[in-house]
Amino acid sequence: MKRTLRIVLAACIGLAATYTQAQQHDPAMHMRHQGQAAKATTGTMAAPKDTRQAVKFPKVLREHTLANMRDHLLALQEIQEALAKQEYDKAADIAEHRLGMSSLALHGAHDVAQYMPKGMQEAGTAMHRHASRFAVAAKDAGATGDVKPALAALAATTAQCVACHAGFRVY
Ligand code: HEC
Repeated sequence: MKRTLRIVLAACIGLAATYTQAQQHDPAMHMRHQGQAAKATTGTMAAPKDTRQAVKFPKVLREHTLANMRDHLLALQEIQEALAKQEYDKAADIAEHRLGMSSLALHGAHDVAQYMPKGMQEAGTAMHRHASRFAVAAKDAGATGDVKPALAALAATTAQCVACHAGFRVY
């Protein structure tokens, strides 16, 4: 009886060791680790191939656009914070004025749009539209107490950030 137990135990330990080894030697995981380490130190080495379309912007416009982008991220953070505090009107205002249709003039969208390929323009327009939809849904949440439609609209908005970033870069 005791002996059987010992054999079973030994087998288990053996299996566990094999499993750990297999994990350590999984080439995909290895590459991922390498990629991360390389990115952290050198920025580009061993990074995945960049398939984004490079779009030429005049320098001033490029700097202006990137500053806008940083504000987009800040706006998302402020929106999430407001939602957590159930400050739905505040979340709506931030979205409408910093990301939504009302932000177009603020961002000089007309100046920038002429340099954008069609797909990029479309992602931008969709982002503004979804952000304005979020603003409406957030205001509704204030009345109904149901925040789910607002969260869905926020996800649809950030999906446009993701889509544009996946497809384009500026230089
Ligand atoms: C229409 C396209 C488009 C949309 C939509 C878009 N971005 Fe960007 N964003 C860009 C491009 C292009 C860059 C520059 C990337 C590069 O050249 O490597 C950028 C860069 C950024 C950066 C880096 C800024 C810097 O200083 O380098 C941040 C942060 C950012 N975007 C946040 C966002 C957020 C958050 C959203 C959505 C709310 C968003 N962006 C929506 C195109 C877009």
